[in-house]
Amino acid sequence: MILRQQLSIDLGTSNIRLGIPKKGILINEPAVVALDRSNYKIMAIGEEARDMLGKTPSDIIAAKPLKNGVIANYRITEAITKYYTDKVLHNIRLLGPEIMSSVPAGITSTERRAIIDAIKSVGTNNVYIIKAPLAAALGAGIAIAEPHGNMILDIGAGTSEIAVISLGNIVSNSSIRVAGDSMDHAIIDYIRKKYNLSVGEKTAEKIKIEIGAISPQIDNKSIEISGNNTISELPEIISITTEDTTDALKNPVKEIIHAVKQVLQHTPPELASDVIDRGIILTGSGAKLRGLDELLSRVTGVPVHMAEDPEFCVIKGCNIALENIESYKRSAIKA
Ligand SMILES: Nc1ncnc2c1ncn2[C@@H]1O[C@H](COP(=O)(O)OP(=O)(O)OP(=O)(O)O)[C@@H](O)[C@H]1O
Ligand SMILES: [Mg+2]
Repeated sequence: MILRQQLSIDLGTSNIRLGIPKKGILINEPAVVALDRSNYKIMAIGEEARDMLGKTPSDIIAAKPLKNGVIANYRITEAITKYYTDKVLHNIRLLGPEIMSSVPAGITSTERRAIIDAIKSVGTNNVYIIKAPLAAALGAGIAIAEPHGNMILDIGAGTSEIAVISLGNIVSNSSIRVAGDSMDHAIIDYIRKKYNLSVGEKTAEKIKIEIGAISPQIDNKSIEISGNNTISELPEIISITTEDTTDALKNPVKEIIHAVKQVLQHTPPELASDVIDRGIILTGSGAKLRGLDELLSRVTGVPVHMAEDPEFCVIKGCNIALENIESYKRSAIKA
């Protein structure tokens, strides 16, 4: 008997993750490709590409396959998907592997088609897709096929997806293009306005992860950062506090909370009562922002729980759905 190889893919805006049922998560790398500016040849992919970018002159540029969950560059998407698929399935492939890929819930059918085509280009026709909030819920340990309402909020880099799930499908949802990247940009804008300092995306992300919080009371810390003074244009080092991040992140956080409230308002009453009982489950790395769970719970009146390893919920969920495809026919569809 020839066993078909199985593979799960979660291609995100900032990270790509690959898994195999029973083996777990095998790849967790930045979704970035380094290109030679002169001829657009691929120089490196993943961690190696990211490391190159910080330290090489400007003839090497960064390309990301996705922006806000949709394909920004088809060739790059194909290249990164093929590179990691080959890395994981190194043995000879007689039959095309069976692939489960997550897709954002809020994309158009054309955008979804482009993701499916890129995945098929690794050499298979056997592709299933699962909407990311369903995969996230499965990976967070929720029995999604049961007739209970569960609410997921997945905050990635490019999108925040909110969904109420019941009987293996999405009942009400919203996807907004406000997530980790928007938080970084809000920090950049804030520092420019308050301190006349221009900082890069990497610095902004570091500030968010190391000292960022929704409420400065959580643990007021500070961090020294360097940038360029916007008036003198000279390099400068300043100190940023948690309180600064709280101010800077007000708008993106407000937008995420607003979207959650709207989904709650559009949830049928019987399921809404389940959500109140079970709470909102947070997944995605962006959800790790300190204080977000508490604030969300306070403003919605619904308990909020952080999933275990929130960044891996989607890929774990893809593995579960692929391994038990018969049980998740309502959630994962053949592309
Ligand atoms: N401790 C942290 N606190 C706040 N944000 C964090 C933390 N750790 C990582 N992040 C942010 O999480 C985001 C990445 O999350 P994740 O890996 O879930 O995204 P993704 O799946 O690649 O993107 P998407 O699902 O939007 O396509 C980045 O914006 C990163 O800065
Ligand atoms: Mg994601």
